[in-house]
Amino acid sequence: MFKRTFAAIAAMTILASACAEEETPNTSSRLRDSGTGTASTGLTQAYASQCARCHGDRGEGGNGGLYPALPGSRDESGYITIVRAGKDGTQMPAFTATDISDADLKADYATLKAR
Ligand code: HEC
Repeated sequence: MFKRTFAAIAAMTILASACAEEETPNTSSRLRDSGTGTASTGLTQAYASQCARCHGDRGEGGNGGLYPALPGSRDESGYITIVRAGKDGTQMPAFTATDISDADLKADYATLKAR
């Protein structure tokens, strides 16, 4: 039941953002669309704008392992937890749902896990 509702909401969000994209192709809101993969990496636009600078365009990690490859050691809920909370004492910041939605995090987790 929850899954189906979630999928419906995600689908509506994608449709709504697809329309918004046509009207405003170069605004920052486009970078926060939910659940849309980028053509080149398969990860979301939100990933590209929020995470790629540290974890790499394709989640390969960076800076000699300082930024771990993703999804790393976590399961899906652990992945979302660290993104929402950040990690004290490291460079891993906390992100709100405005920065990157749960739908985007789940989509990225599935893509990264499948690699
Ligand atoms: C400013 C750099 C930076 C940004 C931006 C950043 N991270 Fe991180 N992230 C880190 C660092 C550094 C760590 C390792 C923390 C540690 O030492 O445990 C980390 C750890 C993680 C981990 C845990 C990996 C594991 O194996 O435990 C996940 C998951 C993660 N980041 C996801 C993300 C996502 C998703 C985003 C974008 C929403 C993001 N990060 C943005 C620097 C960053």
